Amino acid sequence: MPVNLRGRHLLTLKDFTPEEIQYLLNLSFDLKAKKRAGIRGNLLAGKNICLLFEKTSTRTRCAFEVAAHDEGANVTFLTNSQMGKKESVEDTAKVLGRYYDGIEFRGFKQETVDALAKYSGVSVWNGLTDLYHPTQILADFLTIMEHVNKPLNQVKLVYAGDARNNMGNSLMIGAAKLGMHFVALAPEALWPSEALVEEMKAVAAETGATIELSADISAVAGADVLYTDVWVSMGEEHLFEERINQLKAYQVNMDMVKKTENPDVIFMHCLPAFHDLETEVGQSISEKFGISEMEVTDEVFRSRYSVVFDEAENRMHTIKAVMVATIGNL
Ligand code: CP
Ligand code: NVA
Repeated sequence: MPVNLRGRHLLTLKDFTPEEIQYLLNLSFDLKAKKRAGIRGNLLAGKNICLLFEKTSTRTRCAFEVAAHDEGANVTFLTNSQMGKKESVEDTAKVLGRYYDGIEFRGFKQETVDALAKYSGVSVWNGLTDLYHPTQILADFLTIMEHVNKPLNQVKLVYAGDARNNMGNSLMIGAAKLGMHFVALAPEALWPSEALVEEMKAVAAETGATIELSADISAVAGADVLYTDVWVSMGEEHLFEERINQLKAYQVNMDMVKKTENPDVIFMHCLPAFHDLETEVGQSISEKFGISEMEVTDEVFRSRYSVVFDEAENRMHTIKAVMVATIGNL
């Protein structure tokens, strides 16, 4: 069966088959090559896209804007809408659906992006909620395909950090779908919910994936990918002290890299990352808790293992693929 994603939403990768995810990755490769060849396209010509943000962003907003412009679409960046304050999500969705061909949402509740999809009548893409960050996973897997000399279903990906956040959840979902060996490396209190783990273990039984939860650093042995994310996600800023105490033993540093026993291991991070003191938050954490790096050391972040900026670039190519596949003139 040829894959056809026209008119679909991207709310979580749970809704996508392995073939559909692979199709989006292949399309991303093609669109990346097209951009590298300097070809401007018209696959989104005449489309209007709304970028609705409740939380801050650099990559996601810019990736959507550049991807849209590259293929001829127009965008509106909306951060100060009436939604949730003076107007319900349902009413907002019904209005935006009259103007736009597609809506990206970044914010807090998954229920909000689900409701936008339910009521707008147009394709809705999740640009991050508290629960999931599906467009990030597409960029991550494209980056792994480019840097790890193995098929994805032979890759061992260890995610060290807050494994119950949007990235921990979404990496586990993506890995289960594509048959990878996924390890959530975290203290038990920060493991993904039992319900999601069970759901993904059932998917893994179909795809050949392995889903492992471990609090023991030795689980990094044999990793092809060491992945981490911020210890405190957007909206949880009151939790810094607790998280530093829970996660300091899980920092990605050269010692952890060595423990993989894989000279070709790659380091990944969705970014932004706290690897130095060049940010206001980094400064304030350093003053309060006396640490200058959090989830990853500056040494690893800048090392030859790190592919974080390729990963960031791939946000744009993969987001373009999502828009082209769902609302494009393919
Ligand atoms: N990785 C990511 O989503 O980055 P932004 O928060 O900058 O969009
Ligand atoms: N877990 C992070 C991801 C940022 C891209 C957050 O939600 O803040």
